[in-house]
Amino acid sequence: MRPRDYGNKLRARRGKPKPKTKRTELAEAPRKAAPTREAPRKSSSEAARKPATTRVLASTSAKRTLDRILSKAGLGSRADAEAWIKEGRVKVNGRVAKSIEMWIDPKRDKITLDGAPILEGPKLYILLYKPKGYITTYKDPEGRPTVYQLLKGVPGFVGTAGRLDMDTSGLLILTNDTAFAEFVTNPASHVPKTYLVKSSTRLTDEQLDLLRAGPMLDDGPTRPAIVTRLRDSEKYTHFEITISEGRNRQVRRMVEAIGSKVLKLVRVKIGGLSIDGLQIGSWRRLTNNEVKQLIGAPQ
Ligand code: URA
Repeated sequence: MRPRDYGNKLRARRGKPKPKTKRTELAEAPRKAAPTREAPRKSSSEAARKPATTRVLASTSAKRTLDRILSKAGLGSRADAEAWIKEGRVKVNGRVAKSIEMWIDPKRDKITLDGAPILEGPKLYILLYKPKGYITTYKDPEGRPTVYQLLKGVPGFVGTAGRLDMDTSGLLILTNDTAFAEFVTNPASHVPKTYLVKSSTRLTDEQLDLLRAGPMLDDGPTRPAIVTRLRDSEKYTHFEITISEGRNRQVRRMVEAIGSKVLKLVRVKIGGLSIDGLQIGSWRRLTNNEVKQLIGAPQ
């Protein structure tokens, strides 16, 4: 599969013009003020001479600080990355990394965490049916089960594209393509995610309308959602909801905002990908067409 400029897709959906320089929106400026090694810069005229696909590759392989590389690979937060480096668990080109601010060239430098290679090899796109009771971080200090225990046979490190709560089951995408992960999770991409919900009370039509309109949460109103009542029992309502943002615990908070609670939550679709045919706890690779479909590229 050829590399793609997911940044172009994001810009198109935001209605913003493509910048003239080689940087895409996905390659953010380094956070740290004083890097230990200076990342070389190329002139914009040099970048402009390159064909578009080469510019994309160059932008996704631009140097970044080690903590950013580790967190963007989906391993954990930058604070986690800092802790691992302090603990001597991260190696760059076979030597224990000493500083989070070390500049890394993702195309050349070999990084390992606890001996496992990061960012290496061909692009991997994995779809996992996460069971309830598993967390989506790489390692849990409390020793709870993590989704990584379910990825036996995946030939390389993959980070999660978005998260699911411990008590939520369903579709989770894992990949070593950080630009793809960013595209799938960025609210500006409007990738729809569909959930089956069992609420703790029987919901009225007015309550479902509130969900459709987008209830006010403590971090602002949500976008409108597509909501379908599936069935009611005496005490509960089962419904399907499709959202396009993916804020932290969004569905649970939306249901709380209308005066109920989530008893069961299953993510059944991400874009056109469906949970159908996947056994709980198992994974499969995405096909090239599925990857293209998710980013809205022609197949
Ligand atoms: N919304 C939630 O509340 N939890 C999830 O895990 C996913 C979406």
